[in-house]
Amino acid sequence: MSEKPPPNVARQLAQHLESLRNAGVEFVPGATPAEPRPAAPAPPRRLSGPTALPTVIPTLTVPMLQVEALPQDEAQQRIQQLANLAKQVARCVRCPHLASTRTQTVFGVGPLDPDLCFVGEAPGADEDRVGEPFVGAAGQLLTRIMIASGLSREEVFICNILRCRPPGNRTPTPEEAGHCREWLEKTIALVRPRFLVAWGGTAATNLLGTTVGITRLRGKFYDYKGIPVLCTFHPSALFHAPEKKKDVWEDMKTLMARLGRPIPGKA
Ligand code: URA
Ligand code: URA
Repeated sequence: MSEKPPPNVARQLAQHLESLRNAGVEFVPGATPAEPRPAAPAPPRRLSGPTALPTVIPTLTVPMLQVEALPQDEAQQRIQQLANLAKQVARCVRCPHLASTRTQTVFGVGPLDPDLCFVGEAPGADEDRVGEPFVGAAGQLLTRIMIASGLSREEVFICNILRCRPPGNRTPTPEEAGHCREWLEKTIALVRPRFLVAWGGTAATNLLGTTVGITRLRGKFYDYKGIPVLCTFHPSALFHAPEKKKDVWEDMKTLMARLGRPIPGKA
């Protein structure tokens, strides 16, 4: 592929990189780790190459399209469906108290057909302001965990149980999670990840429909509509309970082993 990308793709890529930088990402790996590496020194990253390109759809940050991985029209159709879904979400008033206090909805971001879709709890103040999940302090910690595991943010689809910020960052109520469930289910159905990761008790219990606590759920795989779900502690939990870091690290090793992907420097 040697075609030059249209100028808006370059601009969108620049914006996406800027948002990654704001999220604490200081470097972006030059190639998707799952791809076989050439024996010769890696060629410079090309915008039109097999790496993910961001596609920003008006009013939302939706997905990066992996151009060569999918037939264009099939991918475009799913991107369009995600964009339509995000428009519906942006108008959602099922939880009037959340709709009246949010700055904007936080739909989710990432590529189609990823190895991983991460599900967190709900947007916080930073996410409510920026419109992207996990861009605040917890997001920066999440980014560090990802990079240590050999994952880049741009290869993972990231969303939450809720699309609105609960005032004061309180835990979502079961009613709120129920209202938002349709958006979560439709998003996952369109994104089609190989694996899901539920970060924290709110994500795990709502995704799996269980009342079992995260301490018992973590480190193991469960099923969501045929997609394996790994549960682990929420990054925010690590701020107050740093002893849980080793558990999250164990869980990331379990996950990467199941994906068949090496952890950097741990071969
Ligand atoms: N590498 C990154 O890109 N971000 C971090 O926060 C730490 C390491
Ligand atoms: N915590 C979450 O669970 N989700 C976000 O998007 C940000 C912080």
